[in-house]
Amino acid sequence: MNFKTSSSVDSVNAGDLLSRPRRNRRTASIRDMVRETGLTPADLIYPLFLIEGDNRQVEIESMPDCFRLSPDRIVEEARVAHRLGIPAIALFPALGDELKDRVATESTNPNGLLQTTVREVKSAVPEITVITDVAMDPYSSDGHDGLVEEGRILNDPTLEILSAMAISQAEAGADIVAPSDMMDGRVGCIRRALDQNGFSEVGILSYSAKYASSFYGPFRDALDSAPKEGDKKTYQMDPANRREALREVLADVEEGADMVMVKPALAYLDVISAVKATVHVPVAAYNVSGEYAMVKAAARMGWLEEESIAIEMLTAMKRAGADLILTYFARSVAERFSG
Ligand code: PBG
Repeated sequence: MNFKTSSSVDSVNAGDLLSRPRRNRRTASIRDMVRETGLTPADLIYPLFLIEGDNRQVEIESMPDCFRLSPDRIVEEARVAHRLGIPAIALFPALGDELKDRVATESTNPNGLLQTTVREVKSAVPEITVITDVAMDPYSSDGHDGLVEEGRILNDPTLEILSAMAISQAEAGADIVAPSDMMDGRVGCIRRALDQNGFSEVGILSYSAKYASSFYGPFRDALDSAPKEGDKKTYQMDPANRREALREVLADVEEGADMVMVKPALAYLDVISAVKATVHVPVAAYNVSGEYAMVKAAARMGWLEEESIAIEMLTAMKRAGADLILTYFARSVAERFSG
């Protein structure tokens, strides 16, 4: 190419570049017209951490601007979320050690922290969808998602505990239960238990492809739920695997899952995309605590611009195929959309 004369540039314009992708990016309104992926508050699910008490807000050091909230404050947060157009909240209880035991007894207490909060939210803000986590770890003295015996995680005995927990959450008024334990066969077992107890309308959002990830660290700080011994690699998936994620989602859909989830999200966009192409139910992605903490930390150092990074990440998750995204950024992003 010759850059020396204007005539050679003209001949490039006229002849060689009939197709100019930049024309579709020329103005903001044209960019709006051709944008392929939308992100709205309706795509977001807002995870919230609960603690006992009244008008309490307790900081989570590794998750700046996220708090453990008492039930009355959760109700307020649910009200705000609803006003901002966020359709759902996901609740995670943080319990004191005295309430934890081997078999997660507290998880079926009808007057437990989670059950009480679900009832309060549903009576104050009935329009918001309440999603509850079905897993033993917040209630387990071992900090695992399954029953531990001599260092092994027992699958089938765990299913009974999970089913009882799901029924208890449905009785409290949960709209959707979300098993996050990764035991085999839990979706079918929970589905049958719900149906047999008159809860055929309660949905299941399955954490289907949940990886044994180091991105959950801040969440485990928030709930003080880290495993006391060992790791979660015998039930959560190996980050190296994608085909196995498809096996998991297909099994869950067959067992009655209404929605499936890939977790974490940011480092697993290829998995989200493959899952989307494989199942015909809505696909959720969990923008997990470690992904949130990385952005917050860099923003606090002045190294990244938090808001635009959050929107770019969430948009990328939708582009990859996520229909729904659980994110700790839900409120701040929705606030920005509402002006
Ligand atoms: C456990 C559970 C975890 C998360 C959601 N449910 C942690 C784990 O599996 O150890 C992590 C969410 C996050 O990191 O934001 N049932």
